Amino acid sequence: MLKKILITLLILAIIGIVCAVVHNLKVAHKNKKELGAFTQGQSYTANLGKVLVIYYSWTGHTQDIAQQIVALTHGDEYRIQTQEKFKSSPAFYARIKKELNSKIYPPLTGTMPDVNGYDTIFVGGPVWWYTMATPLYSFLGQMDFKGKKVIPFSTQGSNPGTFLADFTSQTQNAQVGTYANFNNVGKQYNTAVHNKIIHWLNNL
Ligand SMILES: Cc1cc2nc3c(=O)[nH]c(=O)nc-3n(C[C@H](O)[C@H](O)[C@H](O)COP(=O)(O)O)c2cc1C
Repeated sequence: MLKKILITLLILAIIGIVCAVVHNLKVAHKNKKELGAFTQGQSYTANLGKVLVIYYSWTGHTQDIAQQIVALTHGDEYRIQTQEKFKSSPAFYARIKKELNSKIYPPLTGTMPDVNGYDTIFVGGPVWWYTMATPLYSFLGQMDFKGKKVIPFSTQGSNPGTFLADFTSQTQNAQVGTYANFNNVGKQYNTAVHNKIIHWLNNL
């Protein structure tokens, strides 16, 4: 009996590993294909007026994209901060799922940004559980964009899920512009990612 259980567990573990490897290969292939279109150098030619880049980032990926937008547009930066500093643990994933289900989002710290005087406002964050990270829900729930142009962006492992639709439904009093999303990729794609950002900005 014990032998049967062990064999079953071993088979399940092997299936799990094979699925993970296949998934990672598919994502790597998709990233290579998508970013292959951005190998040519691009010049930033857009005129977006005065730019504010608002973002939430837990592990730094969204911050990296946000800071590239700031540098290209000579914009200002506003980082959304939670009162509690989240620590990484397996329980964190379950906790976020619970926040999303209950719609009780983490309290933020700091004053809300003043959007007066800005022409274009970028708002970005990570994808958590196929939707926006919960601090973005906290932020959008209390933010009035005063009818301005708001451009969403996300970073994710591989699947942005319903980020854009959820962003649009939660954003008050804004004209939501063209969304861009960025998978986490290796350093070898740094130039392609930068070109993708420029291409997106030039076509807003
Ligand atoms: C709780 C949690 C849930 C996540 N869910 C997803 C997901 O549904 N899809 C995905 O592609 N990546 C998911 N990720 C990965 C993050 O979206 C990705 O690492 C993101 O770039 C992190 O951004 P940051 O470094 O700015 O915090 C998840 C990460 C965490 C912590």
